[in-house]
Amino acid sequence: MLVCHCEDVNDRRIVAEVGSGARCPDLIAERCGAGSRCGGCRPTIEALLASLGLAEQPAA
Ligand code: FES
Repeated sequence: MLVCHCEDVNDRRIVAEVGSGARCPDLIAERCGAGSRCGGCRPTIEALLASLGLAEQPAA
């Protein structure tokens, strides 16, 4: 499933980045570009993180 249309990143790529330690949307954006442009895919990335048990922590 294509998640980020701006950077052409699919869900498998994002899950792989999460597996290698990118556990928040900013790190994912830094590593593969997903979410770094229009931001339209951010909710999908967040839902993907939540489905992996990694819901974003509220800012301290
Ligand atoms: S769709 Fe991902 S940044 Fe635009």
